[in-house]
Amino acid sequence: MIDVVQADITTLDVDAVVNAANQRMLGGGGVDGAIHRAAGPELLAACRAVPEVAPGVRCPTGEARVTPGFRLPAEFVIHTVGPVWRGGGEGEDDLLASAYRASLAAAQAKGAQTVAFPAISTGVYGFPPQRAARIAVETVRQWQAGHDLPARVLLVAFDAASARTLRAALAA
Ligand code: APR
Repeated sequence: MIDVVQADITTLDVDAVVNAANQRMLGGGGVDGAIHRAAGPELLAACRAVPEVAPGVRCPTGEARVTPGFRLPAEFVIHTVGPVWRGGGEGEDDLLASAYRASLAAAQAKGAQTVAFPAISTGVYGFPPQRAARIAVETVRQWQAGHDLPARVLLVAFDAASARTLRAALAA
């Protein structure tokens, strides 16, 4: 099941929230900043403990890493890194789909029934929202066709425009 909700993702009582992080995984602005503020300082400590796979890289673009949610209602935070939009000719679509898939796989591995996604890459990273919404819906549908978990996926819009965009993609 896929639902669109308009909310601050940090308030949602789901098993896992997905964070639109960067490769360093040491926090940032946008939803990354909101999740770190709501989860508390232990989240940053947990992120620091994630091993680097390359200098300054804890989570490569398109992959996911899991930490506890600490003060969040959610038990887990699934940190994923979406692509920076560079015009569409550098595999951005596939990398965004990969970020959703890796996050879904991480949620399944943790036995999460419900997982909430922000609109990955559509803020600071500049990915066109309609194109990103289509990729999100397609990737989640594809995953759910072959897996029981997560049973419920929330696509979270932070504002009304994003909610319209996500709902249109879901209705397509
Ligand atoms: N709840 C839900 N959605 C939110 C929230 C929130 N509290 N805050 C922001 N958003 C939405 C934005 O409106 C946008 O639609 O999350 C979406 C993703 O935007 P960003 O947070 O800017 O993430 P992204 O575009 O993937 O850029 C990632 O930004 O914050 C830094 O450290 C982060 O370097 C990384 C980069």
